[in-house]
Amino acid sequence: MSRTALATIHLGALRRNLARVRERARGAKVMAVVKADGYGHGLERVARACADADALGVAALGDGLRLRSAGNRQRIVVLSGPDEAGDLAEFRRLQLDAVIHHESQLAWLTADRSESSKIGRPLRVWLKIDTGMHRLGFDPQNIVEIYTKLQALPNIDPDIVLMTHFAASDEFDNGLTAAQIARFDEATAELVGARALANSAGLLGWPTSFDVEVAHADAWVRVGGLLYGLSVVAGKSGANLGFEPAMTLSTRLISVKQVIKGERIGYAATWECPEDMPIGVAAIGYGDGYPRSAQPGTPVLVNGVRAAIVGRVSMDLVTIDLRNAPAAQVGDRVTLWGPELPVETIAAYAGTISYDLTCSMTRRVLFVEDER
Ligand SMILES: Cc1ncc(COP(=O)(O)O)c(C=O)c1O
Repeated sequence: MSRTALATIHLGALRRNLARVRERARGAKVMAVVKADGYGHGLERVARACADADALGVAALGDGLRLRSAGNRQRIVVLSGPDEAGDLAEFRRLQLDAVIHHESQLAWLTADRSESSKIGRPLRVWLKIDTGMHRLGFDPQNIVEIYTKLQALPNIDPDIVLMTHFAASDEFDNGLTAAQIARFDEATAELVGARALANSAGLLGWPTSFDVEVAHADAWVRVGGLLYGLSVVAGKSGANLGFEPAMTLSTRLISVKQVIKGERIGYAATWECPEDMPIGVAAIGYGDGYPRSAQPGTPVLVNGVRAAIVGRVSMDLVTIDLRNAPAAQVGDRVTLWGPELPVETIAAYAGTISYDLTCSMTRRVLFVEDER
């Protein structure tokens, strides 16, 4: 019996979700966003499952290096580009696409006199425009000038992809997204080249942002959450949106005992037994990445039967009200989230979002994969 908390990654779900994304993308190219270790599902594993994607999106150079070291030959886009001038040689050596979003990066590119800037395959660049999120990107009014400058630099691929990122695309009636699309279109009207605007919520709710006809050019969608079957819309699960959760987190019961009415459970004795009742202890806690903020009442499945966490989540253990599962025994499987228990439900009890939970698994969790 393995006591270890287990994250089972469902490769079939990843593949089918990618196919669903492609279908909805209506001819636009699909970037599978695999940053943060594939949203906690495992970078190399997710990349393998997404072999059909037109590109992979990672946050930083190190992830690109990891993928290339694992033998990955897909197109890889580093979404925050180089962090220092010296990174450029690595981008070229590893054949990674660089998102350029800041003057400092432009200056490094302009000053680059290295050997690698003269030979080898031209660097592929994605030019990021800040249309209203005010995180990364250039001011829309400077875009034509920057685009022209970039194209004139030696050993840069002239097919520069124009991109922006939405701040509130998950709110389908929020005018900010429409305004961002309008700002983007205005700033890029004179420019040729592919466009990349939509994230998962953009794919669901903002079709004009990846409509190839409207853009008169190649369009891309950059999709993370939906690939993993995670919800990108408040109040809905990934499954509600037609996507399959790609992670099941489970462990086992290591203790079951009767506790009498009026006794209190766990640290700080916060939860009082309303009657004599069975309390189970499962081998998982915040040391594994299960959220300490999960409130009493947070559901778990014990042998597939819904039960609830009571008391505080501790580092290695959670305590469970087993009144719904009176036959439960030591060794029985406890599911914390997965296709049968939406991670969005747990996120709501913990005051966070599903992405935060899947990204938070620690090294103590054993990762396995299946074809489900
Ligand atoms: C630039 C960029 N594009 C795309 C994505 C994917 O977003 P989502 O997981 O909501 O699809 C992200 C994620 O934050 C991002 O930073």
